[in-house]
Amino acid sequence: MIQEAHRLQQVQEYYFSRKLKEVRGLVAGGRPVINMGIGSPDLAPAPEVLQTLQDAVRDAGAHQYQSYQGLPELRQTIAAFYAKKFGVELDPEGEILPLMGSKEGIMHISMAFLNPGDRVLIPDPGYPTYASVTHLAGAVPLYYPLSEENGWFPDLEALAAADLSGVKLMWVSYPHMPTGAQASPAQLQALVNFAREHQILLVNDNPYSFVLSREPRSILMSEGAGGHVLELNSLSKTFNMAGWRVGMVLGAAPLITSVLKVKSNMDSGMFYGIQKGAIAALKSGPQWFEGLDAVYRRRRQAVFQLADLLGCTYDPQAVGMFVWARLPEGSADSESYIDSLLYEKDIFVAPGTIFGSRGAGYIRFSLCVPEEKIREAILRVAPSEVKQETSQKSES
Ligand SMILES: Cc1ncc(COP(=O)(O)O)c(C=O)c1O
Repeated sequence: MIQEAHRLQQVQEYYFSRKLKEVRGLVAGGRPVINMGIGSPDLAPAPEVLQTLQDAVRDAGAHQYQSYQGLPELRQTIAAFYAKKFGVELDPEGEILPLMGSKEGIMHISMAFLNPGDRVLIPDPGYPTYASVTHLAGAVPLYYPLSEENGWFPDLEALAAADLSGVKLMWVSYPHMPTGAQASPAQLQALVNFAREHQILLVNDNPYSFVLSREPRSILMSEGAGGHVLELNSLSKTFNMAGWRVGMVLGAAPLITSVLKVKSNMDSGMFYGIQKGAIAALKSGPQWFEGLDAVYRRRRQAVFQLADLLGCTYDPQAVGMFVWARLPEGSADSESYIDSLLYEKDIFVAPGTIFGSRGAGYIRFSLCVPEEKIREAILRVAPSEVKQETSQKSES
Protein backbone atom coordinates (compact mmCIF):
# COMPACT_ATOMS: atom_id res chain seq x y z
CA MET A 1 0.00 0.00 0.00
CA ILE A 2 1.21 3.49 -0.79
CA GLN A 3 1.12 5.55 2.40
CA GLU A 4 -0.66 8.87 2.51
CA ALA A 5 1.41 11.97 3.16
CA HIS A 6 1.78 12.93 6.84
CA ARG A 7 -0.11 16.13 6.15
CA LEU A 8 -3.31 14.12 5.68
CA GLN A 9 -3.12 12.62 9.14
CA GLN A 10 -5.21 15.38 10.67
CA VAL A 11 -7.49 15.93 7.71
CA GLN A 12 -10.63 13.96 7.04
CA GLU A 13 -12.86 13.81 4.00
CA TYR A 14 -15.16 16.84 4.22
CA TYR A 15 -18.25 16.04 6.34
CA PHE A 16 -20.72 16.80 3.54
CA SER A 17 -18.74 14.73 1.07
CA ARG A 18 -19.27 11.71 3.38
CA LYS A 19 -22.75 12.44 4.68
CA LEU A 20 -24.26 13.34 1.33
CA LYS A 21 -23.20 9.90 0.04
CA GLU A 22 -25.31 8.45 2.85
CA VAL A 23 -28.20 10.77 1.98
CA ARG A 24 -27.93 9.87 -1.72
CA GLY A 25 -28.01 6.19 -0.74
CA LEU A 26 -31.28 6.78 1.12
CA VAL A 27 -32.75 8.65 -1.85
CA ALA A 28 -31.66 5.89 -4.23
CA GLY A 29 -33.44 3.45 -1.93
CA GLY A 30 -36.66 5.43 -2.44
CA ARG A 31 -36.65 7.65 0.68
CA PRO A 32 -38.11 11.14 0.03
CA VAL A 33 -35.33 13.01 1.81
CA ILE A 34 -35.68 16.79 2.03
CA ASN A 35 -32.12 18.06 2.01
CA MET A 36 -31.77 21.14 4.21
CA GLY A 37 -28.13 20.39 4.89
CA ILE A 38 -25.93 22.15 2.43
CA GLY A 39 -25.90 25.77 1.28
CA SER A 40 -25.96 25.18 -2.45
CA PRO A 41 -28.32 27.77 -4.00
CA ASP A 42 -31.11 26.03 -5.91
CA LEU A 43 -32.29 29.22 -7.66
CA ALA A 44 -31.06 30.15 -11.14
CA PRO A 45 -28.68 32.96 -11.99
CA ALA A 46 -30.24 35.97 -13.74
CA PRO A 47 -31.30 35.32 -17.38
CA GLU A 48 -28.88 37.98 -18.69
CA VAL A 49 -26.02 36.17 -16.94
CA LEU A 50 -26.92 32.92 -18.69
CA GLN A 51 -27.28 34.71 -22.03
CA THR A 52 -23.89 36.39 -21.61
CA LEU A 53 -22.25 33.02 -20.93
CA GLN A 54 -23.90 31.51 -24.00
CA ASP A 55 -22.88 34.40 -26.26
CA ALA A 56 -19.34 34.45 -24.89
CA VAL A 57 -18.51 30.91 -26.00
CA ARG A 58 -18.37 32.16 -29.60
CA ASP A 59 -15.99 35.06 -28.91
CA ALA A 60 -12.50 34.92 -30.40
CA GLY A 61 -10.05 33.28 -28.00
CA ALA A 62 -12.86 32.14 -25.67
CA HIS A 63 -11.44 28.63 -25.35
CA GLN A 64 -7.81 29.51 -24.84
CA TYR A 65 -6.03 29.74 -21.52
CA GLN A 66 -6.96 32.92 -19.73
CA SER A 67 -4.91 35.38 -17.72
CA TYR A 68 -3.90 34.24 -14.22
CA GLN A 69 -5.32 37.51 -12.92
CA GLY A 70 -8.59 37.27 -14.80
CA LEU A 71 -9.89 39.60 -17.48
CA PRO A 72 -9.10 43.27 -16.78
CA GLU A 73 -12.83 43.91 -17.33
CA LEU A 74 -13.67 41.44 -14.55
CA ARG A 75 -11.29 43.14 -12.11
CA GLN A 76 -12.64 46.56 -13.08
CA THR A 77 -16.20 45.34 -12.55
CA ILE A 78 -15.28 43.91 -9.14
CA ALA A 79 -13.72 47.28 -8.24
CA ALA A 80 -16.90 49.09 -9.31
CA PHE A 81 -19.01 46.60 -7.32
CA TYR A 82 -16.96 47.11 -4.13
CA ALA A 83 -17.08 50.90 -4.60
CA LYS A 84 -20.85 50.89 -5.12
CA LYS A 85 -21.84 48.37 -2.46
CA PHE A 86 -19.32 49.13 0.27
CA GLY A 87 -17.76 52.47 -0.65
CA VAL A 88 -14.39 50.68 -0.77
CA GLU A 89 -11.99 51.88 -3.48
CA LEU A 90 -9.69 49.17 -4.85
CA ASP A 91 -7.11 49.28 -7.61
CA PRO A 92 -8.17 46.70 -10.22
CA GLU A 93 -4.53 46.30 -11.28
CA GLY A 94 -3.12 45.18 -7.97
CA GLU A 95 -5.69 44.89 -5.21
CA ILE A 96 -8.13 42.41 -6.72
CA LEU A 97 -7.56 38.80 -7.72
CA PRO A 98 -10.46 36.76 -9.13
CA LEU A 99 -10.57 33.20 -7.81
CA MET A 100 -12.36 30.00 -8.72
CA GLY A 101 -14.61 30.29 -5.68
CA SER A 102 -13.56 31.72 -2.35
CA LYS A 103 -12.82 28.23 -0.97
CA GLU A 104 -9.65 27.91 -3.06
CA GLY A 105 -8.63 31.32 -1.70
CA ILE A 106 -8.43 29.80 1.78
CA MET A 107 -5.79 27.40 0.48
CA HIS A 108 -3.93 30.01 -1.57
CA ILE A 109 -3.76 32.46 1.32
CA SER A 110 -2.55 29.74 3.68
CA MET A 111 0.09 28.57 1.21
CA ALA A 112 1.20 32.15 0.63
CA PHE A 113 1.63 33.19 4.26
CA LEU A 114 1.96 30.19 6.57
CA ASN A 115 5.14 28.41 7.48
CA PRO A 116 5.04 25.00 9.17
CA GLY A 117 4.40 25.51 12.87
CA ASP A 118 2.79 28.95 12.52
CA ARG A 119 -0.39 29.27 14.53
CA VAL A 120 -3.72 30.28 13.06
CA LEU A 121 -6.71 31.74 14.89
CA ILE A 122 -9.83 29.91 13.78
CA PRO A 123 -13.43 30.55 14.89
CA ASP A 124 -15.26 27.82 16.78
CA PRO A 125 -17.89 27.40 15.42
CA GLY A 126 -16.74 28.24 11.90
CA TYR A 127 -16.27 27.00 8.36
CA PRO A 128 -14.40 23.68 8.66
CA THR A 129 -12.08 24.44 5.73
CA TYR A 130 -10.05 26.98 7.75
CA ALA A 131 -8.79 24.21 10.04
CA SER A 132 -8.27 21.53 7.42
CA VAL A 133 -6.31 23.88 5.18
CA THR A 134 -4.26 25.02 8.18
CA HIS A 135 -3.31 21.39 8.78
CA LEU A 136 -2.50 20.87 5.10
CA ALA A 137 -0.17 23.86 5.28
CA GLY A 138 1.60 22.31 8.29
CA ALA A 139 0.39 25.10 10.55
CA VAL A 140 -1.43 24.77 13.86
CA PRO A 141 -5.05 25.81 14.52
CA LEU A 142 -5.70 27.87 17.63
CA TYR A 143 -9.46 27.88 18.04
CA TYR A 144 -11.09 30.96 19.53
CA PRO A 145 -14.49 30.39 21.10
CA LEU A 146 -17.62 32.12 19.91
CA SER A 147 -20.80 31.98 21.92
CA GLU A 148 -24.41 33.00 21.64
CA GLU A 149 -23.97 35.21 24.75
CA ASN A 150 -21.20 37.17 22.96
CA GLY A 151 -23.22 37.52 19.76
CA TRP A 152 -20.81 35.03 18.13
CA PHE A 153 -18.07 37.65 18.25
CA PRO A 154 -14.66 36.90 19.79
CA ASP A 155 -13.71 38.25 23.20
CA LEU A 156 -10.75 40.25 21.90
CA GLU A 157 -9.59 41.22 25.39
CA ALA A 158 -9.36 37.60 26.45
CA LEU A 159 -7.64 36.77 23.19
CA ALA A 160 -5.11 39.59 23.66
CA ALA A 161 -4.33 38.24 27.13
CA ALA A 162 -3.72 34.73 25.76
CA ASP A 163 -0.41 33.47 24.41
CA LEU A 164 -0.42 34.66 20.81
CA SER A 165 3.19 33.81 20.06
CA GLY A 166 3.61 32.39 16.59
CA VAL A 167 0.14 33.48 15.47
CA LYS A 168 0.40 34.61 11.86
CA LEU A 169 -3.14 34.50 10.54
CA MET A 170 -6.68 34.99 11.85
CA TRP A 171 -9.83 33.85 10.05
CA VAL A 172 -13.10 35.61 10.61
CA SER A 173 -16.30 35.40 8.58
CA TYR A 174 -18.87 38.14 9.03
CA PRO A 175 -21.71 37.67 8.38
CA HIS A 176 -20.77 34.59 10.32
CA MET A 177 -21.26 31.11 9.01
CA PRO A 178 -22.93 29.02 10.48
CA THR A 179 -24.70 31.36 12.92
CA GLY A 180 -25.66 34.28 10.65
CA ALA A 181 -24.37 36.81 13.21
CA GLN A 182 -23.32 40.15 11.76
CA ALA A 183 -20.43 42.24 13.02
CA SER A 184 -21.12 45.96 13.46
CA PRO A 185 -18.73 48.49 11.88
CA ALA A 186 -17.24 49.03 15.35
CA GLN A 187 -16.67 45.30 15.79
CA LEU A 188 -15.02 45.02 12.36
CA GLN A 189 -12.83 47.97 13.31
CA ALA A 190 -11.91 46.28 16.57
CA LEU A 191 -10.81 43.18 14.65
CA VAL A 192 -8.67 45.26 12.31
CA ASN A 193 -7.07 47.07 15.28
CA PHE A 194 -6.49 43.81 17.17
CA ALA A 195 -4.80 42.21 14.16
CA ARG A 196 -2.59 45.26 13.56
CA GLU A 197 -1.55 45.42 17.17
CA HIS A 198 -0.56 41.76 17.19
CA GLN A 199 0.85 41.77 13.65
CA ILE A 200 -1.53 39.15 12.42
CA LEU A 201 -2.86 38.81 8.90
CA LEU A 202 -6.64 39.13 9.25
CA VAL A 203 -8.87 37.55 6.61
CA ASN A 204 -12.60 38.13 6.47
CA ASP A 205 -14.38 35.44 4.50
CA ASN A 206 -17.47 37.28 3.31
CA PRO A 207 -19.56 35.14 0.94
CA TYR A 208 -22.87 35.89 2.69
CA SER A 209 -22.68 39.70 2.59
CA PHE A 210 -25.69 39.98 0.29
CA VAL A 211 -28.06 37.36 1.65
CA LEU A 212 -30.78 38.81 3.88
CA SER A 213 -28.43 41.50 5.12
CA ARG A 214 -30.00 44.95 5.03
CA GLU A 215 -26.63 46.62 5.39
CA PRO A 216 -23.90 44.67 3.63
CA ARG A 217 -20.44 45.28 5.11
CA SER A 218 -16.87 44.62 4.11
CA ILE A 219 -13.98 44.55 6.55
CA LEU A 220 -12.12 46.75 4.06
CA MET A 221 -14.46 49.60 5.08
CA SER A 222 -12.58 49.80 8.38
CA GLU A 223 -9.88 52.38 8.98
CA GLY A 224 -6.33 51.14 8.71
CA ALA A 225 -7.34 47.94 6.90
CA GLY A 226 -4.20 48.23 4.81
CA GLY A 227 -1.31 45.85 4.61
CA HIS A 228 -2.58 43.25 7.08
CA VAL A 229 -6.18 42.63 5.98
CA LEU A 230 -7.62 40.56 3.17
CA GLU A 231 -11.21 39.83 2.25
CA LEU A 232 -12.64 36.91 0.33
CA ASN A 233 -15.91 37.29 -1.49
CA SER A 234 -17.87 35.11 -3.84
CA LEU A 235 -20.57 35.04 -6.48
CA SER A 236 -21.78 31.63 -5.28
CA LYS A 237 -24.53 32.81 -2.94
CA THR A 238 -25.04 36.40 -4.08
CA PHE A 239 -25.80 35.44 -7.67
CA ASN A 240 -26.79 31.74 -7.40
CA MET A 241 -23.59 30.75 -9.18
CA ALA A 242 -22.04 28.25 -6.75
CA GLY A 243 -21.24 25.73 -9.48
CA TRP A 244 -19.58 28.34 -11.67
CA ARG A 245 -16.79 28.75 -9.13
CA VAL A 246 -16.22 32.50 -9.07
CA GLY A 247 -14.81 34.29 -6.07
CA MET A 248 -12.23 36.95 -5.34
CA VAL A 249 -9.61 38.05 -2.87
CA LEU A 250 -9.14 41.72 -2.17
CA GLY A 251 -6.57 43.71 -0.25
CA ALA A 252 -3.25 45.52 -0.40
CA ALA A 253 -1.22 44.87 -3.56
CA PRO A 254 1.79 43.17 -1.88
CA LEU A 255 -0.54 40.65 -0.21
CA ILE A 256 -2.36 39.98 -3.47
CA THR A 257 0.98 39.50 -5.25
CA SER A 258 1.90 36.78 -2.76
CA VAL A 259 -1.44 35.02 -3.30
CA LEU A 260 -0.94 35.24 -7.06
CA LYS A 261 2.48 33.56 -6.72
CA VAL A 262 0.69 30.50 -5.35
CA LYS A 263 -2.38 30.61 -7.56
CA SER A 264 -0.53 31.08 -10.84
CA ASN A 265 1.33 27.87 -10.12
CA MET A 266 -1.87 25.94 -9.45
CA ASP A 267 -4.30 26.77 -12.24
CA SER A 268 -4.20 28.32 -15.66
CA GLY A 269 -6.95 30.87 -15.55
CA MET A 270 -10.74 30.85 -15.34
CA PHE A 271 -12.89 29.95 -18.37
CA TYR A 272 -13.59 33.08 -20.41
CA GLY A 273 -17.35 32.53 -20.63
CA ILE A 274 -17.60 32.22 -16.86
CA GLN A 275 -15.72 35.47 -16.42
CA LYS A 276 -18.06 37.24 -18.85
CA GLY A 277 -21.09 35.83 -17.03
CA ALA A 278 -19.60 36.96 -13.72
CA ILE A 279 -19.18 40.48 -15.11
CA ALA A 280 -22.86 40.54 -16.10
CA ALA A 281 -23.87 39.29 -12.63
CA LEU A 282 -21.81 41.90 -10.81
CA LYS A 283 -23.61 44.61 -12.78
CA SER A 284 -27.03 43.45 -11.50
CA GLY A 285 -29.35 46.20 -10.35
CA PRO A 286 -31.20 46.47 -7.04
CA GLN A 287 -34.09 44.29 -8.25
CA TRP A 288 -31.79 41.29 -8.28
CA PHE A 289 -30.89 41.70 -4.62
CA GLU A 290 -34.48 42.47 -3.60
CA GLY A 291 -35.80 39.43 -5.48
CA LEU A 292 -33.24 37.15 -3.87
CA ASP A 293 -34.02 38.44 -0.40
CA ALA A 294 -37.77 38.11 -0.92
CA VAL A 295 -37.43 34.39 -1.66
CA TYR A 296 -35.06 33.75 1.23
CA ARG A 297 -37.22 35.76 3.62
CA ARG A 298 -40.26 33.59 2.86
CA ARG A 299 -38.22 30.42 3.18
CA ARG A 300 -36.69 31.62 6.44
CA GLN A 301 -40.13 32.30 7.87
CA ALA A 302 -41.11 28.71 7.06
CA VAL A 303 -37.88 27.38 8.60
CA PHE A 304 -38.59 29.41 11.74
CA GLN A 305 -41.93 27.62 11.94
CA LEU A 306 -40.22 24.25 11.52
CA ALA A 307 -37.65 25.15 14.18
CA ASP A 308 -40.44 26.25 16.55
CA LEU A 309 -42.17 22.92 16.09
CA LEU A 310 -38.95 21.13 16.94
CA GLY A 311 -38.70 23.23 20.10
CA CYS A 312 -35.52 24.95 18.88
CA THR A 313 -34.61 28.59 19.52
CA TYR A 314 -32.89 30.94 17.07
CA ASP A 315 -32.05 34.57 16.41
CA PRO A 316 -34.67 36.00 14.03
CA GLN A 317 -32.29 38.91 13.23
CA ALA A 318 -29.52 36.65 11.94
CA VAL A 319 -28.65 36.95 8.24
CA GLY A 320 -27.16 34.71 5.56
CA MET A 321 -28.33 31.52 4.00
CA PHE A 322 -28.93 29.42 7.09
CA VAL A 323 -30.97 29.29 10.27
CA TRP A 324 -28.80 28.32 13.21
CA ALA A 325 -30.96 26.82 15.89
CA ARG A 326 -30.32 25.73 19.44
CA LEU A 327 -31.77 22.32 20.30
CA PRO A 328 -34.22 22.07 23.18
CA GLU A 329 -32.77 21.28 26.63
CA GLY A 330 -32.23 17.57 27.15
CA SER A 331 -31.98 16.72 23.42
CA ALA A 332 -29.62 14.10 22.11
CA ASP A 333 -26.26 15.39 20.84
CA SER A 334 -26.45 17.23 17.49
CA GLU A 335 -25.29 14.29 15.36
CA SER A 336 -27.71 11.79 16.90
CA TYR A 337 -30.45 14.42 16.68
CA ILE A 338 -29.94 15.01 12.97
CA ASP A 339 -29.75 11.26 12.36
CA SER A 340 -33.13 10.75 13.98
CA LEU A 341 -34.59 13.55 11.86
CA LEU A 342 -33.02 11.92 8.81
CA TYR A 343 -34.09 8.38 9.51
CA GLU A 344 -37.48 9.06 11.13
CA LYS A 345 -38.69 12.08 9.14
CA ASP A 346 -36.52 12.01 6.02
CA ILE A 347 -35.29 15.54 6.73
CA PHE A 348 -31.58 16.24 6.51
CA VAL A 349 -30.09 19.19 8.41
CA ALA A 350 -26.48 19.82 9.41
CA PRO A 351 -25.35 19.07 12.96
CA GLY A 352 -23.72 22.06 14.68
CA THR A 353 -20.71 20.00 15.70
CA ILE A 354 -19.29 19.86 12.18
CA PHE A 355 -18.47 23.55 12.65
CA GLY A 356 -16.54 22.94 15.86
CA SER A 357 -17.04 21.87 19.46
CA ARG A 358 -18.96 25.09 20.21
CA GLY A 359 -21.57 23.96 17.72
CA ALA A 360 -22.67 21.25 20.17
CA GLY A 361 -26.36 21.58 20.94
CA TYR A 362 -27.13 23.36 17.66
CA ILE A 363 -28.30 22.42 14.20
CA ARG A 364 -28.17 24.37 10.94
CA PHE A 365 -30.99 24.57 8.40
CA SER A 366 -30.14 25.65 4.87
CA LEU A 367 -32.48 28.03 3.06
CA CYS A 368 -31.54 26.51 -0.31
CA VAL A 369 -34.77 24.52 -0.38
CA PRO A 370 -38.03 25.51 -2.13
CA GLU A 371 -40.67 26.82 0.24
CA GLU A 372 -43.07 23.96 -0.55
CA LYS A 373 -40.41 21.47 0.52
CA ILE A 374 -40.00 23.29 3.83
CA ARG A 375 -43.82 23.14 4.23
CA GLU A 376 -43.60 19.42 3.52
CA ALA A 377 -40.96 19.09 6.24
CA ILE A 378 -43.29 20.94 8.62
CA LEU A 379 -46.06 18.53 7.72
CA ARG A 380 -43.83 15.58 8.51
CA VAL A 381 -42.93 17.00 11.91
CA ALA A 382 -46.41 18.17 12.91
CA PRO A 383 -49.23 17.42 10.47
CA SER A 384 -51.86 19.22 12.54
CA GLU A 385 -49.91 22.52 12.62
CA VAL A 386 -49.85 22.81 8.86
CA LYS A 387 -53.52 21.98 8.58
CA GLN A 388 -54.22 24.74 11.08
CA GLU A 389 -52.04 27.18 9.13
CA THR A 390 -53.73 26.31 5.86
CA SER A 391 -57.19 26.74 7.31
CA GLN A 392 -56.19 30.06 8.89
CA LYS A 393 -54.88 31.22 5.51
CA SER A 394 -58.03 30.19 3.68
CA GLU A 395 -60.12 32.02 6.28
CA SER A 396 -58.16 35.25 5.84
C1 LIG B 1 -17.98 30.56 5.21
C2 LIG B 1 -17.76 30.06 3.82
N1 LIG B 1 -16.67 30.44 3.17
C3 LIG B 1 -16.42 30.02 1.92
C4 LIG B 1 -17.30 29.19 1.26
C5 LIG B 1 -16.95 28.75 -0.12
O1 LIG B 1 -17.67 29.42 -1.09
P1 LIG B 1 -17.26 29.44 -2.60
O2 LIG B 1 -18.38 28.80 -3.33
O3 LIG B 1 -17.07 30.86 -2.97
O4 LIG B 1 -15.99 28.67 -2.75
C6 LIG B 1 -18.45 28.76 1.88
C7 LIG B 1 -19.36 27.85 1.19
O5 LIG B 1 -20.24 27.25 1.69
C8 LIG B 1 -18.70 29.22 3.20
O6 LIG B 1 -19.79 28.85 3.87
